[in-house]
Amino acid sequence: MSNLIEVKNLKKYFSTPKGELHAVDNVTLNIEKGKTIGVVGESGCGKSTLGKTLMRLHTPTSGEILYNGTDIANMTMKEFKKTYRANIQMIFQDPYASLDPRMNVLQLIEEPIKVNSKNLSKAEVTSKAKEMMDLVGLAKRLEGSYPHELDGGRRQRIGIARALSLDPDFIVCDEPVSALDVSIQAQILNLLQDLQKERNLTYMFITHDMSVVKHISDDIAVMYLGQMIEKSPAKEIFRETIHPYSQALLSAIPVPNVHIKKERMILKGELTSPINPKKCCRFAARCPYATEECSAKEPQLREIRPNHFVACHYAEKFVNKA
Ligand SMILES: Nc1ncnc2c1ncn2[C@@H]1O[C@H](COP(=O)(O)OP(=O)(O)OP(=O)(O)O)[C@@H](O)[C@H]1O
Ligand SMILES: [Mg+2]
Repeated sequence: MSNLIEVKNLKKYFSTPKGELHAVDNVTLNIEKGKTIGVVGESGCGKSTLGKTLMRLHTPTSGEILYNGTDIANMTMKEFKKTYRANIQMIFQDPYASLDPRMNVLQLIEEPIKVNSKNLSKAEVTSKAKEMMDLVGLAKRLEGSYPHELDGGRRQRIGIARALSLDPDFIVCDEPVSALDVSIQAQILNLLQDLQKERNLTYMFITHDMSVVKHISDDIAVMYLGQMIEKSPAKEIFRETIHPYSQALLSAIPVPNVHIKKERMILKGELTSPINPKKCCRFAARCPYATEECSAKEPQLREIRPNHFVACHYAEKFVNKA
């Protein structure tokens, strides 16, 4: 299978009054066409910044983003918009915030089609928008409804219809179900999976909730303070979690069987600042297993088992310990 997306040493730093904030720091990953990579990590670790940088909503500080082999990170914005904007779309956590409250459902879905397909007639735009409503399961009777009249699930369906209306092949889903009730979460996740199969879509699925990505990801990348600290096929990481931080994240997933006692790993210690970070393991301050080496030397991402990469000096020690 070929990679649709190849990210190489991507960095996105923000200048702040206190120094340079390393929001995304040297991230390298590939996503095969038609597959899903789940990106997980706690608040502030750089998940959204990574997604937005892939979309060129942020200009990368350095690194490459190959889309079908072409570097879109270093091309002009004009060229990107003209050639690639429609191919790469994003679905956000809170669709309400991104939907104009004065537009009804049909108008909201027509809008991106109008902006991006200037050669279409008004009737063609409407027809395409109706087709999108049908695709995402929005009933025809909702055409004239306004966002405030709809529940969160339906509003997210509008967000999905808008993203899909441009026939993209790569979609960054940034916490698309975090704001929804659990029963509606499942419906939206199923819809995203069905659409992926039908249209051979490639997803980056961002979430802080490991249980959400468990069933829909082919690969999982765990981020900590801007860096990727573990990456592997999803099945493998759930069977064998190696990095102590990933172990803590996974231990937070509730187990449905009350007879199974699972110990939750609570992290202590202070979060290291992402501003001008020292060359050390950024997790060291909270890691129960940290040694002097961890505070003195930065661990590199290494292949510990086939296709399973971990950035920890003691990764070998944690194999088979999950
Ligand atoms: N435009 C910006 N200017 C300066 N700093 C920013 C900007 N956007 C994000 N950051 C900082 O970059 C870091 C990563 O933020 P980001 O929003 O990518 O995290 P996240 O993993 O998506 O968090 P969450 O789970 O809360 O959505 C944070 O420290 C944040 O404060
Ligand atoms: Mg975010």
